[in-house]
Amino acid sequence: MTGPEGGARSAQFYGGEDRNAYLHRAWMRRGMPDHAFDGRPHIAIANTASELTPCNSHLDEVAQSVKNGVYEAGGIPHNLPMVSIGETTVRTTAMLWRNMAAMAAEELLRANPVDAVVLLGGCDKTIPALLMAAASVGIPAIVVPGGPMLNGTFRGQPLGCGTDVWKLSEEVRAGGLASDVFRSTESSMIRSRGHCNTMGTASTMAFMAEALGMTLPGIAGIPAPDSRLLEYSHATGRRIVELAREGLTPADVLTKASFHNAIVALAAIGGSTNAVVHLLAIAGRVGVDLTLDDFDAIGEGVPLLVNLQPAGAFLMEDLFRAGGYLAVLREVRERLDPTAITVAGRPLVDELDGHQVWDRTVIRAADEPLLPDAGIVVLRGNLAPSGAIIKPAAATPALLRHRGPAVVFDSVEDLRARIDDPDLDVDENSVLVLRGCGPRGYPGMPEVANMPLPRKLLERGVRDMVRICDGRMSGTAYGTVVLHVAPEAAAGGPLALVRDGDLIELDVAGRSLTMLVPDEELRARKPAPAATAAYASPRRGWEQLYVQHVQQADTGADLDFLVGATGPAVMRESH
Ligand code: FES
Ligand code: MG
Repeated sequence: MTGPEGGARSAQFYGGEDRNAYLHRAWMRRGMPDHAFDGRPHIAIANTASELTPCNSHLDEVAQSVKNGVYEAGGIPHNLPMVSIGETTVRTTAMLWRNMAAMAAEELLRANPVDAVVLLGGCDKTIPALLMAAASVGIPAIVVPGGPMLNGTFRGQPLGCGTDVWKLSEEVRAGGLASDVFRSTESSMIRSRGHCNTMGTASTMAFMAEALGMTLPGIAGIPAPDSRLLEYSHATGRRIVELAREGLTPADVLTKASFHNAIVALAAIGGSTNAVVHLLAIAGRVGVDLTLDDFDAIGEGVPLLVNLQPAGAFLMEDLFRAGGYLAVLREVRERLDPTAITVAGRPLVDELDGHQVWDRTVIRAADEPLLPDAGIVVLRGNLAPSGAIIKPAAATPALLRHRGPAVVFDSVEDLRARIDDPDLDVDENSVLVLRGCGPRGYPGMPEVANMPLPRKLLERGVRDMVRICDGRMSGTAYGTVVLHVAPEAAAGGPLALVRDGDLIELDVAGRSLTMLVPDEELRARKPAPAATAAYASPRRGWEQLYVQHVQQADTGADLDFLVGATGPAVMRESH
């Protein structure tokens, strides 16, 4: 859609001498010179800065550096505020709003006179939503990840976002930490601008954007306050003007090969399980045939190289100091698909030279990994006919093959009400099952799958149990947790049929998740009434639209009518 000047879309608004061209130009002038409308590229800066998305609150400064680069290269930048979602801020769950943010971004990009876009994100859902939108519009796009916070510290020890919240709050409950001291750690944990500094979803999705080829190579993981983030932002501004002229679109970059590389990268960093639903959704927008099973097949045997919380010891600032994401990728170079390119115009594998590892305690060598196999495993069986996932690297090895009786919870509220009941019929061999937490049932697929363990078992020293849920878990959490069970209970999945005491068998090596109940009996069972009563049934607004149209986790939980692309064609005149 872009011509030699790179301004084919905007020229359809601004070119010509008629009344409508006048309307479009005159209102936009406000000091802009006449040559702003001579056919040069107009660049949107899709900006998720918001004071209610604290992880993205610094993005206006980043946007200014992008703008400088755009001007320098002869383009015209426009700040375009986006729907912004703060992971810790919004309810019921940020995931409920990912598709809304993606839809709003898509429509705004298509409706406006822009030829290309720079996508500014950070907090968990913001980069996935913007990538989904850009893929569906199909104009040239580059991501600028906002970067992680500086390391937190407390009493000389590192303090990691998310992961250490759970740890410190447990210490308070156990009487080892006064609550006023606990409160005083808030500012030492969240020390600076930026997103979570653990290997949670934000850190993971920034790297996924880079591994997919959708950032300038080397930007992901630069801490938010680091001057180099602004240098890269400036360079991104320059590059997006070239891209507008070249016409290289997300579909040219987002190939099956680039998703292959992202899955290798995901395993090597021990990234968040949330990347699975986000990558599937992005692939769906661009028409790449990516399946849940690809995560298992491509990730299998990829070593875990990055020693970061929640699985390891360090934080994102340490990873950057140790050489950064490209140094990690260089360790697994032979597993990467050499045909995948980046927005810089060259294959990703050609960007890895010279990226050295400076600290082997943070980034391991491929032949001395933290774990030999960090891939996500896909499970199937009569409990998850369309699939479920587990991250063995975050699980207890002894539980990866396990058989035990189910203890079933029909909702998060049911779980909270009964989990610490001394009379609950549960022991360490039990399998905790939580349903009604899928995309449709909750709605929005909240991060509740890593259920708290029963207090009476905690007191006996039990630290992990097999847990099964149709929801997600935070990228900063861990345990032997089977996630994203599809179909979810509320979509007619067999999870709704499980009863207390049913034997459940998890066999990670065998890729299976089975309830040992005869088929005949299962066919005769009806979904538990207490479960169905807990499913959401919104009557208006976004929640209703979402529940009516959201797809299951195994295909990315996008809305059915948003899958695929509409393209960048300019719409009909407004006047
Ligand atoms: Fe925003 Fe973690 S809460 S990235
Ligand atoms: Mg989260």
